Amino acid sequence: MKTRTIDPKQLPVKDLHQYILGAVSPRPIAFASTLDREGNPNLAPYSFFNAFSSNPPVLVFSSNRKVKDNQTKDTLHNIRETGEVVINAVNFAMMRQMALASIEYPAHIDEFIKAGFTPLASDLVKPFRVAESPAQMECKVKDIITLGDEGGAGHLIICDVLRIHIHEDVIDEQNRIDPHRIDLVGRMGRAYYVRASGPAIHTVFQPVTDMAIGFDQLPASIRQSPILTGNEIAEIAALTELPVTASLELLSLDLEVSKLLEQEEGYSALHQMARNAITAGSIDRAAGLLMLADSLYAQ
Ligand SMILES: Cc1cc2nc3c(=O)[nH]c(=O)nc-3n(C[C@H](O)[C@H](O)[C@H](O)COP(=O)(O)O)c2cc1C
Repeated sequence: MKTRTIDPKQLPVKDLHQYILGAVSPRPIAFASTLDREGNPNLAPYSFFNAFSSNPPVLVFSSNRKVKDNQTKDTLHNIRETGEVVINAVNFAMMRQMALASIEYPAHIDEFIKAGFTPLASDLVKPFRVAESPAQMECKVKDIITLGDEGGAGHLIICDVLRIHIHEDVIDEQNRIDPHRIDLVGRMGRAYYVRASGPAIHTVFQPVTDMAIGFDQLPASIRQSPILTGNEIAEIAALTELPVTASLELLSLDLEVSKLLEQEEGYSALHQMARNAITAGSIDRAAGLLMLADSLYAQ
């Protein structure tokens, strides 16, 4: 694979910034609501953001110095003054309005009004919640870590979560947030966003205590299959054991399989059939077909 190798020191910050945004992506969006010391509301999106601890619950986002003029942002100023922020999740229904709130309005302008959001009083902190947001987290700021003093430098804003409010209609019967119902968006590079619901969502069940056999224990004929993708081989590597010889003999008597064995390209045909079985969710059968191919055709 041809690779582009980048030395961060050799690139203008604006270009480096875009490589980082494109590679560390998609990012969740913290829609940060703060007040200045006079009580004027401020609202702005921040996608250098994530959760870092559940006990205690801690969220971190980064407010960067502007690349063009090295200025710091209102959210950071307000947090330095008050030590409080409400972090609101952003879903698809509010995506376009959220982008409006990222405009560099002067400090006294209220982005709730500019972007058409509804302020909702918080329980434990002074900044407002965004009523339209499906998950609103009231936070006290624990620490601010300054990462540099030039344009593009971040300030990590480390937030203790004091209270969480979740729209009831995004919670399922197991008391878990349903990703399709909450319908969050993520920020990518440039003007790209991703909507995390519908076909964009994939389910991967991977028990972490069962010792899966792993790639290294698969025969080379499976690891190097010209037909299976890495994801498909991983389904076989995730099994805790490979099928035993007796079950392979039974499988070779299966009418569909025995027809394939008569073909000249039996190895490829078995791998193709295994691939179809993986797509259909029949991983044990796929493993059997692949082991059969191994026992019959591998040198
Ligand atoms: C989706 C999105 C994510 C953003 N993420 C960040 C970020 O992580 N850090 C940052 O400094 N600016 C980020 N910005 C830009 C700020 O929102 C923008 O500079 C805004 O005017 C800051 O507002 P404030 O001065 O009221 O804090 C983002 C903008 C958008 C639209």
